Amino acid sequence: MIPKPCIIDCDPGTDDAIALWLALASPELDVRLVTVAGGNVGLARTTANARAVVGLTGRAVPVVAGAERSLLADFRAEPAVHGSDGLGGVALPEGPPLAPGIAADAIRAELRAAAPHSVTVIGLGPATNLALAFATEPALADRVAEIVLMSGAWSEGNITPAAEFNAWNDPEALAVLLNLGRPLAIATLDLTAQAFVTPDLVARLAQRPGGACWQAALAILRALPASKRFGHRGFPLHDPCAVAWAIAPGLFGARPAHAEMDLAPGPSRGRTVIDRWGRLGRAPNLTLLETLDAPAFFALLAERVAALP
Ligand code: RIB
Ligand code: CA
Repeated sequence: MIPKPCIIDCDPGTDDAIALWLALASPELDVRLVTVAGGNVGLARTTANARAVVGLTGRAVPVVAGAERSLLADFRAEPAVHGSDGLGGVALPEGPPLAPGIAADAIRAELRAAAPHSVTVIGLGPATNLALAFATEPALADRVAEIVLMSGAWSEGNITPAAEFNAWNDPEALAVLLNLGRPLAIATLDLTAQAFVTPDLVARLAQRPGGACWQAALAILRALPASKRFGHRGFPLHDPCAVAWAIAPGLFGARPAHAEMDLAPGPSRGRTVIDRWGRLGRAPNLTLLETLDAPAFFALLAERVAALP
């Protein structure tokens, strides 16, 4: 197996942390760069968290700070889900210093050095850094093998009735990626709802021994609040689903679909209008991840992250 060169853009964030550990533990990926946006808890915290999460693995992957706000506005944070620290109160040792520079520039430099159609780009937060990279050097889209995003929803949102948090926090940035013309797969809220974490599941996962990363991941899963959207029975584990597509696509059912962003001001702004049934007759611009083999997903997650230091 030749590992796929990979860039991960994120806003850690509790589920981002587990997604980063999954990616860094997986031989299918050669994570070359981690870039950070403000998103969940503001850039100061998300960068500190990304440094700590990557540092805990002992891997020397550069972490570069990026957008403190979206293309058009400030990010809206989500401390109610992630805690004010962004990791559910789970304290990690401080990670190595940030690599110098700005995320969009680092993404472009990594792509410029890559072969055509070679780099897997995984987006786990508002897509601002990625949009800035491609908007300032569009030709670099040619270096991308696939973009995989946790973003959007074909049904209801989670930050507004219409929109999912990442898409809503920078809908113009997501529109840039949807119009890039490179393969793009999207794990929406409807998909991630199938990666459903309950206290019983966490208790079962915790029976597996593992290193500091696994123990931290379990502590985060214990700390995450049950979601009112799911009757307080548990919560969806969003971001690792995007990484899982990049390492084990056989876990998913997927179909091509056309999607576009609602960018108008008002209650539906940030909605991903996903035409699952081709009613508009427009050419597909993404691979919509629709079903997940959840038991196999959690088994893979546990096997990989528990093997980290
Ligand atoms: O809507 C869920 C997404 O928003 C996840 O990426 C979570 O980390 C937050 O960024
Ligand atoms: Ca995220």
